[in-house]
Formats: sequence, C-alpha cells, structure tokens
Amino acid sequence: MESIYKSDVVIVGSGISGLMTAISLYPRKVTLVTKRKLGEMSSSAWAQGGIAAAVTKEDSPELHFKDTLKASSGLSDELAVKTITNDAKDIVNFLESIGVQFDKFNGEFSLSKEAAHSHRRVLKINGDQSGKYLVEFLMKHLKKQGHATIVEDVSVDHIIHKENVCHGIMGHIHKSEVVDNFVFFQSPNVILATGGIGSIYAHTTNPRDVYGEAVAMAAQAGAELVDLEFVQFHPTALDVGLDPAPLLTEAIRGEGAFIVDENNKRFVFDSDKLGELAPRDVVSRAIHQHKLNGHSTFLDCRHFKINFKKMFPTASYYLEKSSINPDQDLIPIIPAAHYHMGGIKVDIDGKTSVEGLWACGECSSTGAHGANRLASNSLLEAFVYAKRIANKINSEPLKQSHKLINIENYIPKEKTISKIRAKKYIWQLRSAMNKLVGVERNQKTLEQAFVEFLRIEREAENLSAKLKDMLIVSKLITYAALQRKESRGTHYRSDYPNKNDATQKRNIFKLKNLNDYLNEEFKIAN
Ligand code: FUM
Repeated sequence: MESIYKSDVVIVGSGISGLMTAISLYPRKVTLVTKRKLGEMSSSAWAQGGIAAAVTKEDSPELHFKDTLKASSGLSDELAVKTITNDAKDIVNFLESIGVQFDKFNGEFSLSKEAAHSHRRVLKINGDQSGKYLVEFLMKHLKKQGHATIVEDVSVDHIIHKENVCHGIMGHIHKSEVVDNFVFFQSPNVILATGGIGSIYAHTTNPRDVYGEAVAMAAQAGAELVDLEFVQFHPTALDVGLDPAPLLTEAIRGEGAFIVDENNKRFVFDSDKLGELAPRDVVSRAIHQHKLNGHSTFLDCRHFKINFKKMFPTASYYLEKSSINPDQDLIPIIPAAHYHMGGIKVDIDGKTSVEGLWACGECSSTGAHGANRLASNSLLEAFVYAKRIANKINSEPLKQSHKLINIENYIPKEKTISKIRAKKYIWQLRSAMNKLVGVERNQKTLEQAFVEFLRIEREAENLSAKLKDMLIVSKLITYAALQRKESRGTHYRSDYPNKNDATQKRNIFKLKNLNDYLNEEFKIAN
C-alpha cells in the first residue's frame, strides 16, 4: 500500500534545523517527515552546550568570527563564518520572542566558556539542557502556527530525482508490521535536516538514529559532498560501556575540571599549553594516545566548589545511573564521534548542487566549521541556515510540483536481511570505523577499512536500508580521508602528521569518484 503526500516543501528531520526551517517557511504549506515522534531522538535535543553568540559588551561578532576561523584550521568559508557570527544576536532575539528563557543572573545572560572561545559566549538553558528546551519551544511554536503537516515514524530511503532535479522523496513507515508500507512525498523543494553521522562509529555521543542517511541519499542523487574526512571526536564521553556514550559537556572543563590519568597526572599539558581547554582535536588525540599507551583517563571534578548537580543535570543523571559521585570519584572518559563538519555541500542559502534539494544542520557542510568546529557554533549554524533556506524559498515564486517519476524503481524488489542479522554487521562496521577511520588514521588503516566494508557487503547480501546507508557513508568518509594527505583539524593521519599548505582547500567530490576508486583498486563495479 502506498500513500502520496504533496506539498510546496518537504522537510526531513525534526531537530533544530528541521523545526526552524518549518517555522520560518510560515505560511507556506510544508510537510515535515520525522523518523520517530516529532523532536524525538534528534542530536539537537541532546545538545548540552548551547548557542554561541557575542552578547556582552566585551565581546563582538568580529571576535567570534576570529575564534571560529582560528579553530577551523584554515579551511572555513569566511562568508559562512561571517554570516553565522553576525546573525547570532538576531537568533537569540527570535528565540526570546517565542518564549525561550536563557539562563540569566541578575538580568544578564549566564554564559559558559568552552574550548578555543576567547570569551564566555555560550548561552544555555537550565545548565546542560539547552537542546532539550530549544526543541520543545520550537515544536510548541510550530504547532501553534498550524501550517505544517507532520508525518511521524517514517524512515526516508531515497531522493526521487531525474537529470539533476529533485522531485520528492520516498520512505517507509518503519513501525508498521506491513513490510511494503511505502510513502512518497512529491514536492519541488526537499530539505534534508537529519543530523550527522555519529552512529557509524562504535563510540559516539549521538542518538542511535543518527547515521548519515541524508549524506547517503544525497550522494546517490548525485549531489556534491565536501570535507567528509572531518569528524569531530568529543574528548569527554562517559566511558562506562553505554551505547551511545553519554556526553560530559565541555562546560564542565570550562568550570575547571581536570583531565587526569591513574597517577593523577594532567597529561594533556604534554600536548598543549592550554591543557584541558585546548581545541577538541588536540584533547581527543591526547586521550586516545594516552589510552593506547596503556593508561586510564578520567575527568576530575573533585575540587569543584559549584553545585554540580544543579549546573549539569544531564551529566549528573548519567553519573548517578553509573554510581559515580563527581564530588568524590574520578569519571572515566573516552573520545567519541560527536559532530561531522563535512557533509552535503551547500551554498550560502543552503542549496545543494541538485536543483530543488536543500540541506541544513549537521548533514550539510556550509564551510562555517572548516576542519574543526568551535563548540556551540553548530546550533547557531543550524538556526541561521534554516532561516536562510526558508527566506530563499519564500522569496521565489512557488514552483510547480514535479510529478514523481518511475517511483516503482525505488521500491526494493527483494526482501532485505533481518534486523537481527543486520545488527551484527552494523556492529562490525561501527567497530571498523572506530579502529581504522577514527581519531587517528593512515593509508594502511584506511585501506583495511575498505577491505572490511566490502567483506560486510558481500556477507550481508541483501542489505537493510540502514546498513546500506551506513556502508555508503563509511566508504565516503574513508575515501575522503584517503584523499587528504595531511593532518589538519580533526583529520589526523599518522603517515602525514603535518599540515600541508598545498592542500589547504576543501575536498569536494561525488559518489562517482568513490565508485571509480573502488573499481580501480578493488575491481568493484558499481
Ligand atoms: O561539550 C559540549 O557541550 C558540546 C558542545 C558542542 O558540541 O557544541
């Protein structure tokens, strides 16, 4: 049984980017498609940091711009950085206008300090619960506006396209017992806002649903991709065997937490004079290497004078669940995949290289983060670009909805492997990504990763939609990492440990380039 929805715009994803785009498109008729219930299981809702914005007298958009550029390791797009840092204050004003109450003290914003920011600049809501509250406020506002049709429990599988023009999307109702319950959305504008790729790694802070399907779908529709090799590992995920690994927000280090080993040594200072507040890639690598050298690694808050539970309710919840008391105990930590700077290449209005296809938030790559993202710039970027996409669509005459063409081609002909079998291969894939394409990589590990992906593909045969997307994204990231023969930002190659100014450029390619490589090196025809 198939259903077909038609609308001016269809948005995929209900984190901050999806919700904000829908809100900003008012009064256009929009359909918002989401995998779970609205707002559920999005990375945004899990965000603990907040929104970076220059809102004090001592700070300015220019200083925020400079910090962002410096963190990005020479690869950011200056226009994108200028756009997000200049628009930050407007976004804060908009959020306050719909009722968001940022944490304040004596009428002034309570701002936290995060690594590589020259000022306290991160606005928060109820300590480390910014994402949760932002998503709640946006959902409430969207429902009040009443122009959006919300379709829940649908996994989107394909972008329907022809000759570089997008006509809509196809998905399946994943909660349904009926296997062939496919849904089609016909629209001249498709906006991808499904978040990043974290769950293709064994260690991640991202919700399990976040595995890069937008990148996989856009790649198959022929869209340009960029900088996929840049995956940011958060240095302080709680290491107690939970999957995903709970995030211990950087704001805890901003308040003065130490990173120590079993001998109480603050070993990050051996790598960088900024110690715990050095850029994330430096801290993650220091922890990763210290672990490889046989040490244990911890966050130490035992000297804190603040009320930890009040300031960090989310972290406290997970610590309590793990029987860890931050006032008395060391907290075991591990670096975990947290944010993808690379993604679907978009221009300053969020347009991809496929007509009618747009992307915003973590699945897109605007160039604002370059090779390494400054903490709490991601929610800011999501808000700013969601609004830009909506403004652009609203400023253009309404396009005729293209007819969906050859939709039967998108319906799988054969039954895919069972969820239980897929689970086994998904775990193998995630482990390979962590070990071979993780914090540190080199030619040998990247080639080994391809051997592993191809084995999984062969053995699993009829791949489930999720496993298929995860494999495509893993291959694309590995291919991108092979291309960049230098170390820059979050991309560290032990065989090319230094920056190379000759390769100081963004890494743009299409799925076809990966397929040509596989054909040449592994004799795999696609
Ligand atoms: O550590 C954090 O709270 C993370 C913030 C971010 O990724 O922007």
